[in-house]
Amino acid sequence: MEYAINPWMDTATPVDRELAVKQWHGLRETLLGLGHTVHELDPVPGLPDMVYAANGAFVVDGTVYGARFKHPQRTAEAAAHRAFYEAYGARFVAPAETNEGEGDFTYLPEAHGGLILAGYGFRTEPAAHAEAQEVLGRPVVSLRLVDPRFYHLDTALAPLDDGNIAYFPEAFSTAAQRVLAQLFPDAVRADEVDAFAFGLNLVSDGRHVVLNSEASGMAAKVAAAGYLPVPVELAELKKGGGSVKCCVAELRD
Ligand code: ARG
Repeated sequence: MEYAINPWMDTATPVDRELAVKQWHGLRETLLGLGHTVHELDPVPGLPDMVYAANGAFVVDGTVYGARFKHPQRTAEAAAHRAFYEAYGARFVAPAETNEGEGDFTYLPEAHGGLILAGYGFRTEPAAHAEAQEVLGRPVVSLRLVDPRFYHLDTALAPLDDGNIAYFPEAFSTAAQRVLAQLFPDAVRADEVDAFAFGLNLVSDGRHVVLNSEASGMAAKVAAAGYLPVPVELAELKKGGGSVKCCVAELRD
């Protein structure tokens, strides 16, 4: 590993490149098997974190709010994402504020008429939350993250369907916990073991919940809530501080 920009990364830990690629393909096959369309972002040499495709933009209703990475090691990724979305034909809006796309933003079309949830504290700046609201025209709820292990919103919270979420309360400030409890009284609450296994870094289509296979407790919780857990092995990707959701940018179209 060439650099470390979150507590999960360790330059002394070797990454099995072949296994990582194999696991990534397993995730791709899983999504295709569930009937989803998967576009691929071509890797750029020298940008290893590009595999975490969720961080490059945030799309709502066909408008793409671009990313502006916090760390210089990832800065150049933004242009590659921009090129992808422009080629895809989406309306792209370049950001002025630091934000890491779907790492810190998520959208629930059926929660309170359409709500954007946004994290800050480690990567995305609160100013980007206001900017996203201006660009996307949906209310943005700002949530402060307080635990460096859960440095992106998507490490601690995920939509399970268009209106409900799963989250790990302790990753948020006390005030943000109150806000989440008020907005999502029926949320699935995860514990530290679930969060530590990257169980919140999931992708759901409203029925199937694709999540890291190490997060068996989380799988049981989503099953109890009426969803179908689909475990995938992504242990090598976890060494970079990401799992299922980090690897997937949702186009929402
Ligand atoms: N190594 C990457 C970073 O620290 C991991 C990003 C994980 N992506 C995510 N959506 N949480 O920026």
